[in-house]
Amino acid sequence: MDRKNFLSTLGLSSASLLAAACLGSCSKETVASAPTVDFTIDISQSQYAALTAPGGYVYSNGIIIATTSTGQIIAVSQTCTHQGATVVFQNTNTDFYCPRHGALFSASGAVTAGPASSNLKQYTVTVNGNLVRVHG
Ligand code: FES
Repeated sequence: MDRKNFLSTLGLSSASLLAAACLGSCSKETVASAPTVDFTIDISQSQYAALTAPGGYVYSNGIIIATTSTGQIIAVSQTCTHQGATVVFQNTNTDFYCPRHGALFSASGAVTAGPASSNLKQYTVTVNGNLVRVHG
């Protein structure tokens, strides 16, 4: 094998190795499925008081629970489906944002911007006075 062929072979091998390594860890979604839950929180308690104001949000049982600008309480899995970071609520656009790589999810948990490709699980919220039941 001459020098040109040797370098060509080496270049292909390196590229192949890098591609294989990235396919194995860069794009693989390893997040476990969101849990099935059924719990009730009392927003008159201090740890949930953020929900009494538009834009406020809290975390409980792996779920992010948020109050929209119209006063609706919504809930989705707090775990980003890309690589498992914790999402935050953005009241301005009524969406959920993952600060690790920038994925965006709608109020119902649907992916609106990658790199995530799977939706956040949406939970049903039932409000009765100060009691907020989250289930699904
Ligand atoms: S962990 Fe990558 S976008 Fe959320």
